[in-house]
Amino acid sequence: MILTKETPVAVVGLGLMGCSIVTCMLLAGHPVVAVAPVSVDLLHAENRIKTHLQKSFDNELVQHEPEHYLKNLQITEDYALLKDCKLVIECTLENIEIKEAVFKKIEAVISPEALLTSNTSAIPISTLQKLVKHQERFLGLHWAEPAHTTRFLEIICGDNTDIKNGEYLYELSHHWQKEPILVRKDIAGFICNRLMYAMYREAISLVENGYATVEDVDRSCRNNAGYFMTFVGIFRWMDLTGVPAYHAVMQQLLPTLNNSTDVPELIDKIVREGGKGVANDHGFYDYEPGEGKLWTETFNKFTYEVRELAMRYPHDVVRQKYIEQKASQASEEAPQ
Ligand SMILES: NC(=O)c1ccc[n+]([C@@H]2O[C@H](COP(=O)([O-])OP(=O)(O)OC[C@H]3O[C@@H](n4cnc5c(N)ncnc54)[C@H](O)[C@@H]3O)[C@@H](O)[C@H]2O)c1
Repeated sequence: MILTKETPVAVVGLGLMGCSIVTCMLLAGHPVVAVAPVSVDLLHAENRIKTHLQKSFDNELVQHEPEHYLKNLQITEDYALLKDCKLVIECTLENIEIKEAVFKKIEAVISPEALLTSNTSAIPISTLQKLVKHQERFLGLHWAEPAHTTRFLEIICGDNTDIKNGEYLYELSHHWQKEPILVRKDIAGFICNRLMYAMYREAISLVENGYATVEDVDRSCRNNAGYFMTFVGIFRWMDLTGVPAYHAVMQQLLPTLNNSTDVPELIDKIVREGGKGVANDHGFYDYEPGEGKLWTETFNKFTYEVRELAMRYPHDVVRQKYIEQKASQASEEAPQ
């Protein structure tokens, strides 16, 4: 199967992530069928997608105004319109029963060779895979919000996925301006969340045990890891800054890191009290009413700026420089 930018693709579930994934697909040039599994999605989806498209234009991510892309968008409650789609991205609530019911409706319509994927954050792909008819074409496609600006995409194979489908999506996603990660064997949390949750656990433990405040731990993340991570990942960082030092520190530090398997009380208490974070001005920080909304708006603006930086420093930026230098040296040394 050859998927090109003319191939119709679909997103099922038009919440926060569904709308930004639709935007990403539209910006890449695909005709998109956007299915609203619950009618309430119809109230906000079009506006949200339009706003993403407008901001993408305003921030010079793309050269065309929203109307250019909206011609390619169909928002519907009718699953029958998925018939010609060759890639379907399920993006409904993180709930197995809901996802299973949605897969059934999708598979009743799409052709057997169309790829079916899920944006689940944490449900193992091999578990979801057991709920579908054609297991070899089922994969995880794990995006980061906002999907149209971030370069992150994990493509996850379940136990019964045909690896060729994973490799195929890996290639294709370069056209969506991703720097994709192919997870060849299913593992809980995939790659990114395993790394991040190790950090969340340690961060909470430092606060709970009185070593530092929430503010101080955050400042430490932002101004150390946050300072280099758009440029390099942790392995390149260790190479850049000297591997033996990390080896020495690991001997001392690893035995002291938190390895508890319980959900920490600090986060449990917030959730018990109904705290959601900036969404309802109640999280690890204290927010004045409405301050949370301002955080969301400010973050949205930041995503465009950090994307610009990320695009200037792709993963192979140095290799490209090296090749150019070599080529120019070779031409200087060549006999005239
Ligand atoms: N929010 C993130 O940053 C993020 C990141 C990566 C992955 N994800 C995953 O993406 C998926 C969607 O997350 P979101 O943040 O967009 O959630 P959301 O709450 O914004 O949207 C959920 C959507 O689920 C659908 N839905 C709700 N009830 C339903 C029902 N009974 N039957 C069928 N569909 C129903 C609707 O389309 C709704 O808009 C989840 O699996 C989540 O874990 C989210």
